[in-house]
Amino acid sequence: MTSPAPARDTAWPPPGTTIAPSLLAADFARLGEEAADAAAAGAGWLHLDIMDGHFVPNLSFGPAVLKALRAGSGLPFDVHLMIAPADPYIPAFAEAGADHIIVHAEAGPHLHRSLQLIRSLGKRAGVALNPGTPAEAAAPVMELADLILVMTVNPGFGGQAFLHDQLPKIAQVRDMIGRRPIALEVDGGITPDTAPLAVQAGAGVLVAGTAVFAAPDRAAAISAMKGHA
Ligand code: DX5
Ligand code: ZN
Repeated sequence: MTSPAPARDTAWPPPGTTIAPSLLAADFARLGEEAADAAAAGAGWLHLDIMDGHFVPNLSFGPAVLKALRAGSGLPFDVHLMIAPADPYIPAFAEAGADHIIVHAEAGPHLHRSLQLIRSLGKRAGVALNPGTPAEAAAPVMELADLILVMTVNPGFGGQAFLHDQLPKIAQVRDMIGRRPIALEVDGGITPDTAPLAVQAGAGVLVAGTAVFAAPDRAAAISAMKGHA
């Protein structure tokens, strides 16, 4: 099964290092402006963290907020579902304007079915791995996944410290991907200091919330995380 090429990002996986600012760290009273500001500062994707207060101990926002943001942004929307069950909500996020929809391997018994559903809606399908989940959890779905997201914090909150013990797993996933057209994304605790570690281990996409939105100069922060000193 192949996914149709989305309009907003045709090269896959994207070359070099892509920075995906997480709106979780933005000013929630000005989300549209914050998304535009991240794009102007050099963001490649916009990362949207969806939390249900059940799979993770926090709540964020849902498809209505995505839909409202979609009209004002040309960035690919990278939607990270930290919800269980995920399947009943996947069509709503696709309809609201997601380009990539990422489900957690731990969120339910039917990871393969979730990825099939995302693909059937014409979206890129991703699988996320919690810090306590081995790389092998993604092995059975390598032919269905467009994206693998390795968590470098336990999901639920922004502003946590990068878990260095996840670096070998990033490298392991990079090896598993081989020549397949799968993007390798790392999420949690990414800063100009930790970004090079993730990239060296094999990451191509770095999610960064606090390190972008709390930075005095967002363009400089994104540039530093891309490796442009
Ligand atoms: C955590 C989220 C992350 C988070 C990253 O559950 O998945 O995307 O917003 O935030 P920082 O970059 O502040 O660690
Ligand atoms: Zn995330």
